[in-house]
Amino acid sequence: MIPQSFIQDLLARVDIVEVVERYLPLKKGGANYFACCPFHGEKSASFSVSPTKQFYHCFGCGVHGSAISFLMEYNGLGFIDAVKELASTVGMEVPQDDFTPNHDRARDQSLTEVMAQATRFYKEQLKRSQVAIDYLKRRGLTGEIAARYGLGYAPEGWQALQAAFPDYSAAALLECGLVLENEQNRRYDRFRDRIMFPIQDQRGNVIGFGGRVLDKGEPKYLNSPETPLFEKGRELYGIVQARQAIRDQECVLVVEGYMDVVGLAQFGVGNAVATLGTAATPNHIQKLLRLTDRVVFCFDGDAAGRRAAGRAMEVSLEHLADNKALSFLFLPEEHDPDSFVRAEGPDAFRAAMTRAQPLADFLLAELKKEVDVSTAEGCAKLVHEAKPLVTRIGAPLLRLQVIKMLAESAGFTQAEVEQAFGLKQASAPPPRRFDEGNSFESGFNRGFGGTDGGDRPFRGKRRQGSDFPRMTPRQTPQTALETLLKLVVQHPVWAARLPIDLLSDHSPEGRALIAITDAMSVGDLPTQGVGALLEHYRDTPHADLLARMAGQLADSAFDDAQIEHLFNDTLNKLEADAISRQIDVLTARERESGLNPAERRQLAELLLHKQKLRVRAKVSDS
Ligand code: CTP
Ligand code: MN
Repeated sequence: MIPQSFIQDLLARVDIVEVVERYLPLKKGGANYFACCPFHGEKSASFSVSPTKQFYHCFGCGVHGSAISFLMEYNGLGFIDAVKELASTVGMEVPQDDFTPNHDRARDQSLTEVMAQATRFYKEQLKRSQVAIDYLKRRGLTGEIAARYGLGYAPEGWQALQAAFPDYSAAALLECGLVLENEQNRRYDRFRDRIMFPIQDQRGNVIGFGGRVLDKGEPKYLNSPETPLFEKGRELYGIVQARQAIRDQECVLVVEGYMDVVGLAQFGVGNAVATLGTAATPNHIQKLLRLTDRVVFCFDGDAAGRRAAGRAMEVSLEHLADNKALSFLFLPEEHDPDSFVRAEGPDAFRAAMTRAQPLADFLLAELKKEVDVSTAEGCAKLVHEAKPLVTRIGAPLLRLQVIKMLAESAGFTQAEVEQAFGLKQASAPPPRRFDEGNSFESGFNRGFGGTDGGDRPFRGKRRQGSDFPRMTPRQTPQTALETLLKLVVQHPVWAARLPIDLLSDHSPEGRALIAITDAMSVGDLPTQGVGALLEHYRDTPHADLLARMAGQLADSAFDDAQIEHLFNDTLNKLEADAISRQIDVLTARERESGLNPAERRQLAELLLHKQKLRVRAKVSDS
């Protein structure tokens, strides 16, 4: 089996437009590309490819899918061959079969044991190496902190690990990335003469190592490769040691380096974790926001630091909620967190943390840097550039605040900006233009889609399509669950907002929603587009249903202006239905045998709750 993580990496690396273009001449129309469909005979171009969704769809015959499915269909390849073919175009190597059973728990467990054994060995070696001890002392670390973070030392020599693993040729050593093999199949230790930082998962298992050279040398840090246990973009260094402090301080601090985490801890700032030399990923953001409500990112004060902060901000937008606060702390240019806390002390560091720049401020400041708001053009550009970012903010109230601030800076009214963003609901939904909301590209997912008004070749054809009326929620014969599922396929990060207790597994839609929510809660859900989502569920019971939903979306996505409203409405409806069912049960019982005081109280509460939901629905309607 090819691991899902590889499929997702692959899809993140390729661009479906380039893939299809190798076989079909594509023409740009609006945000998408079009060609005559290769899968059915036609003269007009109804085959569309969406770069932002990484998904193709034919409005004529209804075929659709990811870059992988395109190669399968077009070249008549099997799944594995299509993956191999695609991987070869971007120079990725498909992991070998015997190397990859990703979900083999027994094997994972034996790998975990190997890593634990290696950790013990490296720790033991640290005690014996005066040079390594001196190095850590020079960096201001006490034995206590070194022990807390399980620091170790990988000795010099090519096969030092042989002392810890009598069976030095065991496959597990290679799979864990602890040893390498040269061309003559001779094995040698990956980490030699380095300070070892064990990387633990949330349960405390060591899943990888970072190894630092003792003084000067390249590379400064050597990390474990990706293994069945270790995926860089999902792990936070120091999470186990920081958990209690994060809880106590109701705040997590995110830094860039191993030494930053350990150095801060040495000075009593215990709530820091590090991304492992990578930019923050959506998965990181989800993990962090599940830990606590306040996240402070700490970056170096230089240009690279600001760029990294910009990326962290962008991947955070969809995951924001109104009860969460993200902020950015920029250190003076000459410092990283470790050197800062050493030079200025923990109080100065904490004080700096309280002055961290809130995400909304940072967002606006970055946008304003690019324009001159003393000109009309600059003001227009500011709002134009802000749109794809601001519309992605997942926290409705915060989004409103940002819009107000933006309006003020650019000399517009709030209503004007909302209108420009396509966010404002008139009290009665305005009559729709045919191409509104019906567009393949509802830019909500990936703000940068840009204008979508271009003349699309299939437009006339689609107007007659039976799918069009589906766009208006109130005329829709869809069940609430279907609507929710479609919304979530269009906008996967919203799975995080589904109340799991309202979902039931009595219908295929309910089961798919539960599967998606589960995947989201463990940070497993691809959010890079519909194509990636479909690949995630290939060969599962949900595959067909999700493909159908994706197809409907290509034809008639919900539009930005309505999606949030519709999402909330649908959840309300689901909740109201659940309450009504409970009320029915209780009133029936009341008629038959009467209610005891507790049941009577429950009924009263349910009725009150239902009343509230009705009011809420009215408010959101107007
Ligand atoms: N990193 C890496 N490989 C490198 C350099 C850096 O993986 N060759 C990652 C490591 O996770 C490192 C982080 O990027 O902790 C930050 O790098 P850097 O700022 O260079 O290191 P510091 O944490 O400041 O380490 P030190 O203070 O020991 O120099
Ligand atoms: Mn440093």
